[in-house]
Amino acid sequence: MITKPKGTKDIYGKKAKVWKYIEEVIDSVMEKYNYNYIRTPIFESSELFHRGIGDSSDIVKKETYDFKDRGERNMTLRPEGTAGVVRSFIENKMYGENLPIKVYYYGTMYRYERPQAGRERELTQFGMEILGSDDALADAEMIGAAVNIYKMIGLKNIKVMINSLGDKESRDSYRKALVEHFKPHITDLCEDCKERINKNPLRILDCKVDSDKEIMKNAPSMIDYLNKESKERFEKVKEYLDLLEIEYEVDPTIVRGLDYYSHTVFEIKMVREKDASLALGGGGRYNDLVEILEGPTTPCIGFAAGLDRIVMTLEEEEIKVPIKEELECFILYVNEEEKKYATYLSQEIRMAGFSCDTEYTGRSLKAQFKQADRLKSKFLILLNSEDINNGQVTIKNNKTKEEEKIEIEYLLYYLDEHVQDEDYLEYNMDKDCDCDGNCKHSHKEEGHTCTCHKKENRGEDNE
Ligand code: HAM
Repeated sequence: MITKPKGTKDIYGKKAKVWKYIEEVIDSVMEKYNYNYIRTPIFESSELFHRGIGDSSDIVKKETYDFKDRGERNMTLRPEGTAGVVRSFIENKMYGENLPIKVYYYGTMYRYERPQAGRERELTQFGMEILGSDDALADAEMIGAAVNIYKMIGLKNIKVMINSLGDKESRDSYRKALVEHFKPHITDLCEDCKERINKNPLRILDCKVDSDKEIMKNAPSMIDYLNKESKERFEKVKEYLDLLEIEYEVDPTIVRGLDYYSHTVFEIKMVREKDASLALGGGGRYNDLVEILEGPTTPCIGFAAGLDRIVMTLEEEEIKVPIKEELECFILYVNEEEKKYATYLSQEIRMAGFSCDTEYTGRSLKAQFKQADRLKSKFLILLNSEDINNGQVTIKNNKTKEEEKIEIEYLLYYLDEHVQDEDYLEYNMDKDCDCDGNCKHSHKEEGHTCTCHKKENRGEDNE
């Protein structure tokens, strides 16, 4: 059997509906905030990420999926969405339009990381960017939009952490302070950090290997090196956040893993009882990136959320999300003449705007009733040759079990009157087993479905 690559996943069935639900919530929030949808390529020239995200970042150094295309060009599967959006902004001369440009996107990103719960090699992000505003209000509003999205999806216990990396002058003096702090202890640092000290000392603060060392804990704090303008700007962001009644904590250790940030940086975390908190999303201001990529000076701010982590959190917290009941009618038939009529009628019904399905596998009438139940069809349309010749069908409300014979020409009006739009069913997420087929457990506890291919793991052998 050919299996999926490590760090990727198939999303189908009920879970796919949860993903759709999340995207619908995001779409509606983005509409309220007046963002427009944007799509950019999944692969771009490698140079975009080297220049944009930065050669000294772990993402570019160790995690990109690089390849040469058949024309020997260096290409990279995008590890994040911001660089592509900025490339598109410059290439399509969006800077000549009415600024700011507010865009949002969904997409798969690719990072060669060590896969574990919540860390994929193919991950899906939702992202939003405001290009062409340096106003602190844009920073606060973006943080507010991100918080509202998580809340609307149904997540509780989220925490906003903010920091400021200041302007170039502030970062230069902070870099100097970091070098002075770390240089005498260079032998204590990991090999990567030894290199980082010369190339980009801020990255040392992001190091996962050295994070628990004493030397890290005593490192100088960025906040103390902000110059007057940067400090005032950070104060303004906080003032607007207070006005928007968004709770936040200042965390001077947030430097973010990408090199393009300046001023405001922020992360949104899920506070968990048992495990360490999980980064649900993060972002910040990147006032120099458009210029670095050869566009005109354009201050920007952005944010991205990991959708895989949102779904994982919904499962962990056993949060119910409303999922729309999809099927409005199911047509049942017995003989070939009725089947032909079902073919015609299903098309008419769909074109009139109702969802409709019918039988394709030769089931008996009894089994078709069961199939309609499994599909949770609201209405059943029962065909028989005699009725069809009389211009009639029987329609049955599958909930109340009431049925009536109606004129076919009246069917669409009937559906219009009786099918209600907003019919939601509460859905509790099943917990998937992420064992990839190698686990030794039986997953028969309630609500826990082992999706691996080993029958015995799924508990099926015992049934
Ligand atoms: P990031 O912090 O690298 O920022 O990623 C944003 C979010 O993507 C993370 O907080 C996390 O939820 C999710 N994520 C990252 N890596 C993985 C992974 N391997 N598996 C699952 N989820 C993951 C950015 O990507 C920036 N482009 C954000 C931004 C937009 N800054 C400005 N504009």
